[in-house]
Parts: sequence; C-alpha cells; structure tokens
Amino acid sequence: MLRSTLLAASRSGAVRGLVERTPLTRPVVKRFISGDDTAAAVATTGEVLADGRYVTLDHLGEDTRDAEQASGTVEAYEVLLRRLAEVGYADRAEVSVKLSAVGQFLPKDGEKIALENARRICVAADAAGTTVTLDMEDHTTTDSTLDILRELRVDFPRVGAVLQAYLKRTEQDCRDLAHAGSRVRLCKGAYKEPAAVAFQDKTEVDRSYVRCLKVLMAGAGYPMVASHDPRLIAIAHDLAAHRAPDTYEYQMLFGIRPEEQRRLAAEGNRMRVYVPYGDEWYGYFMRRLAERPANVAFFLRALITR
Ligand code: FDA
Repeated sequence: MLRSTLLAASRSGAVRGLVERTPLTRPVVKRFISGDDTAAAVATTGEVLADGRYVTLDHLGEDTRDAEQASGTVEAYEVLLRRLAEVGYADRAEVSVKLSAVGQFLPKDGEKIALENARRICVAADAAGTTVTLDMEDHTTTDSTLDILRELRVDFPRVGAVLQAYLKRTEQDCRDLAHAGSRVRLCKGAYKEPAAVAFQDKTEVDRSYVRCLKVLMAGAGYPMVASHDPRLIAIAHDLAAHRAPDTYEYQMLFGIRPEEQRRLAAEGNRMRVYVPYGDEWYGYFMRRLAERPANVAFFLRALITR
C-alpha cells in the first residue's frame, strides 16, 4: 500500500513540487545521490574505486518531453566520460542510461531520437575506454529498450541492459540474452506494474529472480547480479561456483548496504556501485523510499529533528 502510494507519487508533479521545495529534503537525498554535478560524481567515483569496488554512473533524469533537454543529457554524459578517462577511472567505471532521459518518450520519432542519442553516448564511452548499460523503466518501454539494445550492439557489442525479474516475460528475455558477450543486469524491478504483466507478490518476484539467475549463470554471457537481498546474493554465489570471478559481478546502489559492498569486494568478487548524480533526483529518490518503508521513517525523522 505504502509502496504503491510512493510509486504513484514518484510520477506526480504536485507531490514533486512539495518534496523538492522542502529545504530539509536535501540532506536525506544525499544518502542516495552523489551530488549535483560532474565534479561530485567523479569525486564519489574516486572514493568508491579506492576500496576495490567498481562504479556505474547515472546522470539523473527521466521522462524527458523536450528534445533539447534530451540532447543536454547526452552532453552531460560526454563531459563525464571525458573526465573519467582523464582521471584514469574509465577502466573501472561505466555509465548507465535511461532511454526516457534521452528522448524515448518524445511525441515525434522518440525511439529513433533515443537510439541516436544513446549512440552518441556509446561513442563517447568507447572513446573513453568503457561502456554503457541501458536501465529498464516501466514495462511499456521493455520492447523498445531491447530493440535499441540490439541496434547499439551491432557497433558497440559491450553495451548491456537491465532486466526486471518482476516481469513475467523476463525469464524468456534472459534466455534470449544469455549468449556470449551479452551483459545483463538482473534486478527485481522498481516500478508500479499491473498484475497482467508483473508478479505482485514478493516471494513470486524472488522465485522469478532465481529462475532468471539460473538461466544467466548457465549461459555464456556476463550476468550482473543487481540486488541487496542477502538470500539472492548467497544463491548467486552458489550458482556462480563454476564460473571464473571475472565472468560475472554483483551490483548495489550507492548508499545501500555499503558494508556488504565492501565485504563482497574484499572477498575478491567484482562489486559495482550504481552512483546517481545530478539535480533531477526526484523519481529516483521516491523509488528508493518505496523499496523500504524504513526509509520513509528515516526521511520523516530527519525532517522533524532538523
Ligand atoms: P529488496 O527490495 O527485497 O531488498 C533487500 C534488502 O536490501 C532490504 O531488506 C534492505 O536491507 C536492502 N534495501 C533494498 N532497497 C533498499 C533501499 N531503497 N533502502 C535501504 N535498504 C534497501 N530497477 C528497475 O526497475 N530498473 C533498473 O534499471 C534498475 N537498475 C538497478 C541497478 C542496480 C545496480 C540495482 C542494485 C538496482 C536497480 N534497480 C532497478 C532497482 C531494483 O529493481 C530494486 O528495486 C532494488 O534493487 C531493491 O531490490 P533488492 O533486490 O535489493 O531487494
């Protein structure tokens, strides 16, 4: 119930205004978001890399309805990628891109523009010596995102994508993508989805995650286990027993279970942290609150006690 309300609020302009205008929100947002600009993102990347973890950077923004804004997002990624190469981080830091931030929802030729914009980011990533992973948004975008993935992989075979275990279609998508050279970031899924397309029950989502993980770990691709769930991490560890350590990785979000991130890295696992930055933090922040009721209490407590 609370999850649904928060996810509905994540797409409400009125609530967005309220949350963003509250000056005390900022310190709480900082737990999940690196900072507003490239300098902050690069500084956080340096800190994370220093203890052996890897990074993927997300320039925050989504649901763009404006072509200029979409192009601005591409430029932000280009600046970031040049900077990552300059400071010598590009071998351990890649970028994550939401296609809706680069034009997928534009009323005219959205998909075509998103493909061209994503291609520009891939060119910049390639020049920097790193790669791109496409985030996955709500289920109405899955086919379009996977089509764009296929197009991009023709020229940039290291481009990867996220699949969401809560979608009923995902086990089949995993089978389609479990081939050599294919990078798949498997997560549970963070949007409000209808029962027709998505499992609603937490246990069912977890079971689907394990089925998907089995397909990916048995395949020839590069599975990226994106979860903070201790049970799923233990299962991934067992399923990966036959694999070399550099053929899969664990991934978690910035600010969530950092000690576990360090533990996994210290044990010799490849552990990547998803680091979001930028001032368009609202949708991302609300999804993090929705994932864990305790975060709402944390948020409210911070508002009250400051
Ligand atoms: P679950 O939600 O069951 O959490 C397990 C445990 O982790 C909790 O008990 C708690 O200890 C901790 N935890 C989880 N979330 C927390 C939070 N917000 N605050 C504090 N503690 C928390 N989704 C999507 O739809 N599209 C995408 O592209 C991505 N991309 C992505 C990349 C990466 C690297 C990660 C790790 C996650 C995503 N997600 C995503 C989000 C994902 O779908 C999911 O919503 C969250 O990872 C939470 O699910 P868990 O698997 O962690 O399990």
